[in-house]
Amino acid sequence: MRPATSTRISSKNWALPSQKPKTVPDLLSILRKSADYLGGKGIDSPRVEAELLVAHALDLDRIALYLQFDKPLTDESLGPIREVLKRRVRGEPVQYITGKAGFYEIELAVGSGVLIPRPETERLVDRALALYEGGPVLDLCTGSGAVILSLWHARQEDGPFVAVDLSPEALVWAEKNRASLEADVELLEGDLFAPVAGRTFTLITTNPPYVTADEYSRLPTHIREWEPALALESGPDGMNLLTRIAAEGKAYLEPDGWLLSEIGSGQGSIAKSAFEAQGWRDVSVEQDYTGRDRVLLAKHGA
Ligand SMILES: C[S@@+](CC[C@H](N)C(=O)[O-])C[C@H]1O[C@@H](n2cnc3c(N)ncnc32)[C@H](O)[C@@H]1O
Repeated sequence: MRPATSTRISSKNWALPSQKPKTVPDLLSILRKSADYLGGKGIDSPRVEAELLVAHALDLDRIALYLQFDKPLTDESLGPIREVLKRRVRGEPVQYITGKAGFYEIELAVGSGVLIPRPETERLVDRALALYEGGPVLDLCTGSGAVILSLWHARQEDGPFVAVDLSPEALVWAEKNRASLEADVELLEGDLFAPVAGRTFTLITTNPPYVTADEYSRLPTHIREWEPALALESGPDGMNLLTRIAAEGKAYLEPDGWLLSEIGSGQGSIAKSAFEAQGWRDVSVEQDYTGRDRVLLAKHGA
């Protein structure tokens, strides 16, 4: 007969009840940890980005986070948070992870294949709205549709509104944004003015690629690795597209119509000369909110 097994309680068994209950972290502590983690990995605005990413992972509005700081977070919700933080420290832009970017007065869906709209481009929209007196509008190099959809949003009763981009990937995002705003905007794929041959407009806006090849090679890797080169680089002096727009644009503009183009901060004088050489009138360059050359304005000349 086998000896009866001892009834002594093993340390393994009796340690359990006295173990400290596992503490469940609250939202505020996770936000702090996430911000510390991002900051430690060199992310510039770690607290803001932590809020955006955690809100996205929890499917909450960023504002809703503030109302739920003491909400306990289960392991189930920590998984998606870890995942978005990992993507961010690998260099993926926060807007691609959350899938959205605020621009002017609208929110745009963005992701792989389209440029994330930049705040400095809002200056182009401001100036265009100030000069626009109605009539057909064309936005060249529309990307996510940031400029044309902002113009449409502000002046829906005017138009028609038309936008062109060479990149089918970018146009997928533009169409997504057009559909979610239910915007009456025509989106066309093609090279600059080719898709609008024979048509004229009272306002042409554009934010073409204008980064020089050398500047492009020195852009931060997170831009070069994630955002499309087609949206940024434009030859040795960054003027490939601007030169073509200066040469071809007047045929598509009604008399007294305006063309407004975003330009690079070092391109004011070279861009102005390119437009003047093509007979545009009232050519001027305006600065952005940081005092850098940013918008070229030109009127249909003789
Ligand atoms: C600087 S991004 C501007 C995107 C958007 N308008 C914005 O402000 O966020 C330039 C855009 O020009 C497009 N593009 C480049 N070459 C083009 C061409 N030859 N004709 C039309 N679009 C072009 C790119 O695909 C990209 O979407």
